Amino acid sequence: MAILKIARMGHPVLRRVADPVPDPTAPEVTALVRDMIETLDDIGGAGLAAPQVHVPWRVVIFKVPEERTTGREGDTPLPLTVLVNPLVERIGDEIELGWEGCLSVPGLRGAVWRAARVRYTGFTTEGASVERIAEGFHARVVQHEFDHLDGILYPQRMTDMTLLAFVEEWQRFPMDLAEAAERMAEAAT
Ligand code: NI
Repeated sequence: MAILKIARMGHPVLRRVADPVPDPTAPEVTALVRDMIETLDDIGGAGLAAPQVHVPWRVVIFKVPEERTTGREGDTPLPLTVLVNPLVERIGDEIELGWEGCLSVPGLRGAVWRAARVRYTGFTTEGASVERIAEGFHARVVQHEFDHLDGILYPQRMTDMTLLAFVEEWQRFPMDLAEAAERMAEAAT
């Protein structure tokens, strides 16, 4: 068991496309996941992708804490989920603007548009296949973590950089996201 060092924005491991895992049940995958869980428990956060701990494999862990849910169908609390070789596809055209943070981009928050509803699949470290539909924060955390496997950090998904802030200032001077979303929609038409 070990608490792993987190790669920060600028490290090449966060920019490359991670490799598929040939055997999700391999002992080295189980060992990695165990250390990733210990690391996430230690630092806190909703999710962690293997490239963030300097391992370029398609492995993610994530959870949905109760306080981040809306209670809508598909957006309910989720215990820690481990997924190997995950895939995601959006359902429908609806997008939502929401705040994100990332352990690899410490101290910042930014607003990102994400698909409101997704279907995702993957494998557990026991080799079982998983298929779920997610909405709201659950859909957001899945899209954020899976992006790490393709070398994408959330700032690259941002369309309005005025919605990037240091956490302390973001807490002191709350920004109205609904208003920002309206402004951006108007600018686009
Ligand atoms: Ni992240």
